[in-house]
Amino acid sequence: MTLVLLFIPFFLNVGSAQLCKKVAYSVQGYFLRDHLISTSNVKNIGQCLVACSQDQRCRSINFKFLGSICELNDADREIKPGDYQLNDGYAYSDYPIKKPFTNKTYNMTPLWLEAHATYIDVHYSVTTHQITFVGDDDIRQAQRYKAVLKVPLLAAGQLSDETPLTVNITVNTDVIIGQSSDSDPIFGLSDETNFIGFQTVDINNYPNYAPCFGIEGTSGDILKGTEEKEATSSQISDRFYPDEFVFTLKVHKLRGSCFTAQDGAYNKTALYSERLKLSNGLTLEIYKGGEHERVGIKYIEVIITKSSW
Ligand SMILES: *[C@@H]1O[C@H](CO)[C@@H](O)[C@H](O)[C@H]1NC(C)=O
Ligand SMILES: *[C@@H]1O[C@H](CO)[C@@H](O)[C@H](O)[C@H]1NC(C)=O
Ligand SMILES: *[C@@H]1O[C@H](CO)[C@@H](O)[C@H](O)[C@H]1NC(C)=O
Repeated sequence: MTLVLLFIPFFLNVGSAQLCKKVAYSVQGYFLRDHLISTSNVKNIGQCLVACSQDQRCRSINFKFLGSICELNDADREIKPGDYQLNDGYAYSDYPIKKPFTNKTYNMTPLWLEAHATYIDVHYSVTTHQITFVGDDDIRQAQRYKAVLKVPLLAAGQLSDETPLTVNITVNTDVIIGQSSDSDPIFGLSDETNFIGFQTVDINNYPNYAPCFGIEGTSGDILKGTEEKEATSSQISDRFYPDEFVFTLKVHKLRGSCFTAQDGAYNKTALYSERLKLSNGLTLEIYKGGEHERVGIKYIEVIITKSSW
């Protein structure tokens, strides 16, 4: 088997141009000695490189052919040339240097959202000013919590699960829709399995519900197994729909808050039970309350910061 064939599973799993270039520097018949951080059984070298991508400390791998064993190293042959040695039983591969995480800001205009979504509900229209989701007009077709938009924020392997992470999401909404239509969209984050976020409600719900409240569930085409966080407590006396919602999600602390301009300054907090697995990546997800509902979004800003504890 040639080296090119060996690496095919890796391309399929990770597939970035930068990685492909580095993979060309993999060598059969060599290994790096004395920098082992973990050992596991894998099917092939591709799986071993994926394991390396998921461990923040990993800088290179030794793949031992006998027993198909994956060894992750916390150094590489560039840093420790003396430990890079001939060994018939192994293949060695560098792993591209993981740049330390830097704070990220996304300015999501309607057209940006349309271009970067990995999932977008077909019932939408977009202009430079607004992306609008409409749906089935039949109120009986009220499939709850249908996904309308998913946008990747961080790729898998970029962060370790323990990273203290704060995500601020500012959403500018279409006030007319919030005042005149059924419109209770949910905004939040997922690791592709669990979802944590906030549900917002239209003005008709104000007598009974808080203008926004925490919600969590299982991510998918439909948000399932949802649990609302004190949805009916801390209602407002103001009767206008805000043009902006500010959500802050402290992922590592399982806490969130939702901020609006009503009642002077309204701030609702939430405590979640499921912690997102950051090594799986992070996605912004938006669901609507019911299939017939309308959602109008003018702008979303997402700021991701590595917080101090
Ligand atoms: C995120 O929102 C919180 C308010 O909940 C604020 O204190 C913090 O400064 C914001 N961070 C950024 C980077 O905007
Ligand atoms: C809302 O309240 C939480 C918890 O008290 C606080 O951490 C957060 O900064 C507040 N957000 C704003 C925007 O004031
Ligand atoms: C990221 O943002 C946090 C919070 O605003 C700040 O304390 C930290 O210094 C920033 N890190 C970098 C690398 O800019």
